[in-house]
Amino acid sequence: MRALIIGASGQVGGTLAALCVRRKIEVYGTSRKGQGFLYLDLAEPESVTAAFEKSRPDLVLLCSALTHVDNCERDPQLAAKINAEGPALVAAECARAGAQLVYFSTEYVFDGAAGPYGEADEPNPASVYGRTKLEGERACLAVKGALAARTTVVYSHNPASKNFIMQLIGNHKAGAKMRVPSDQYSNPTYAPDLAAAVLDLAAAGASGIYNVVGPDWLSRYEFALKACEAFGFAPDFLEPKPTSDLGQAAARPLRAGLKTEKLSKKLGRSLPPAAESLRKIAGILKQYE
Ligand SMILES: NC(=O)c1ccc[n+]([C@@H]2O[C@H](COP(=O)([O-])OP(=O)(O)OC[C@H]3O[C@@H](n4cnc5c(N)ncnc54)[C@H](OP(=O)(O)O)[C@@H]3O)[C@@H](O)[C@H]2O)c1
Repeated sequence: MRALIIGASGQVGGTLAALCVRRKIEVYGTSRKGQGFLYLDLAEPESVTAAFEKSRPDLVLLCSALTHVDNCERDPQLAAKINAEGPALVAAECARAGAQLVYFSTEYVFDGAAGPYGEADEPNPASVYGRTKLEGERACLAVKGALAARTTVVYSHNPASKNFIMQLIGNHKAGAKMRVPSDQYSNPTYAPDLAAAVLDLAAAGASGIYNVVGPDWLSRYEFALKACEAFGFAPDFLEPKPTSDLGQAAARPLRAGLKTEKLSKKLGRSLPPAAESLRKIAGILKQYE
């Protein structure tokens, strides 16, 4: 089995690459920069074709995206190119090569009026990021046997990543205050657990939409408090704020989150609770002391 991870330099792609190696899956990873990666830019169709020719994959894990939600709002054309047109190029290559396609999607396909959401709920994105990711998801799902894994608030200990937990650790270390939304609810998801569940779904031949998120439904502030507890941080640097005070360019789904009954039924397990994953990160932080 040969896997091609598109966006292997990112948080999710890097975690998947490490897991593929542990599972003895031959793996190629792409990035627009850096050694040891195949070059692939979703804005350059010929680079997509070239990466498929070099790797000849059986399984394609599409992690690349313009993930900065507010930057998508500021540059909707670029967001459409990378998040919607790029996945359509990848989908066409997968269809041609007969490769299994896994697309990483998001809870931002919903407006956050009435979450948590199931796979069959009607999407209604409230931001450019959500709209363009939904277009990318639909382009990918048009390929026979494709899987779309919807996830949210992905975190891990990864110094190269600006994920929420790394921001929290950075602010605490710097002695800086951190404004945290008190009214954005969703299911924080530990990247290694996401990677393992998605590879297991792919191995089981799952297709269509699957929600792949952690079991805790929390506001971002509640999640930050849980992290502080696990890491032994005094939480007084956290400043809970309503989203309306944060001046973010893009609208956020407030009552979001995803239901995971379909995932548990398929895999016979749920993802571990956040407290357990945060304890693992606390263990890593201890090694850095
Ligand atoms: N993180 C979350 O909380 C979250 C939540 C829901 C859904 N998701 C989805 O999960 C996926 C992975 O997220 P992540 O957290 O790993 O993101 P990330 O750490 O921001 O990584 C983004 C990846 O996209 C690549 N990329 C950006 N622009 C590109 C372009 N023009 N062409 C090709 N690659 C490009 C980057 O590679 P280079 O810059 O090296 O080229 C990088 O590997 C994304 O599709 C995201 O929408 C993430």
